Amino acid sequence: MMAPFSLMSVGVNLLVKSLGLFSTASVVRCSCVAPVLKRFSTTTGGPPKRPLTAYMTYVKEMHPTINRQNPGVKNVDIVRKLAQQWKMLTPEQKQPFQDASLTSKEHYKLAVEKYKAQLTPAQTAALAIEKRQKVAKRKAIRRKKELNSLGKPKRPRSVFNIFMSEHFEEAKGNNIQTKMKSLRDDWERFNATQKQMYIQLAEDDKVRYKNEIKSWEEHMIEIGREDLVRRKERRAIKAKATKDRKKKSKVTVLKAKAPKKKTETAVKKTVKSTKK
Ligand SMILES: *[C@@H]1O[C@H](CO)[C@@H](O)[C@H](O)[C@H]1NC(C)=O
Repeated sequence: MMAPFSLMSVGVNLLVKSLGLFSTASVVRCSCVAPVLKRFSTTTGGPPKRPLTAYMTYVKEMHPTINRQNPGVKNVDIVRKLAQQWKMLTPEQKQPFQDASLTSKEHYKLAVEKYKAQLTPAQTAALAIEKRQKVAKRKAIRRKKELNSLGKPKRPRSVFNIFMSEHFEEAKGNNIQTKMKSLRDDWERFNATQKQMYIQLAEDDKVRYKNEIKSWEEHMIEIGREDLVRRKERRAIKAKATKDRKKKSKVTVLKAKAPKKKTETAVKKTVKSTKK
């Protein structure tokens, strides 16, 4: 229930921005454009605006009317109303907006061609760089999301990071910068004994990470996602898997001897790692 609604409100916000329904909309638009192109825009008129979808065309056309009929209602809520209306339209009622959107797309294509044709080589290069950066950024975000959904363990925290998060609330200062500064000063004043606790916590967190990442990477290999495993570890894990498989087949042959020793070491290991 939650997801579609929040998705929808994200959509509404985007729409409000892209249709320029807020006074800040132009600012928002510009922030997406690399500075070098922004500078060019003043001389070239800038890259053409993206074409409107059928739905966006509808919103743009109906917005003034709905706005007039609902004085004092926030823009986001007006657009939400329009979104509900749009959903209720029949295909026939939607058709004119679909047609308008198609025309707008064709115009956009031509405008892009024209825009690209008049760029200087330097501007073309800047545009290409910007595009590559955008793609890379999107890819990085997607990767991060994927790793999150696959439950990749969090990296170990540093000693100071642990100290900081424990004392951030009570730190002196009324903004992040001054709080950080005063925490750094506190940390400098600490003697070895006072620091020891945080050093120990960081050590524990390293152990936690080492264990978690190891089994996570083993799991990734199991599900065929070797690409997510640190390169150095890939070979080691694979070699171990092969060895285990060989051992296993040996164990089945020599059932009596092999398993006992193995379980003993395994138990010792578990005790060690839970002790911390
Ligand atoms: C470190 O500081 C604490 C708190 O001020 C103090 O109790 C302790 O004796 C100090 N230890 C050393 C080794 O100076």
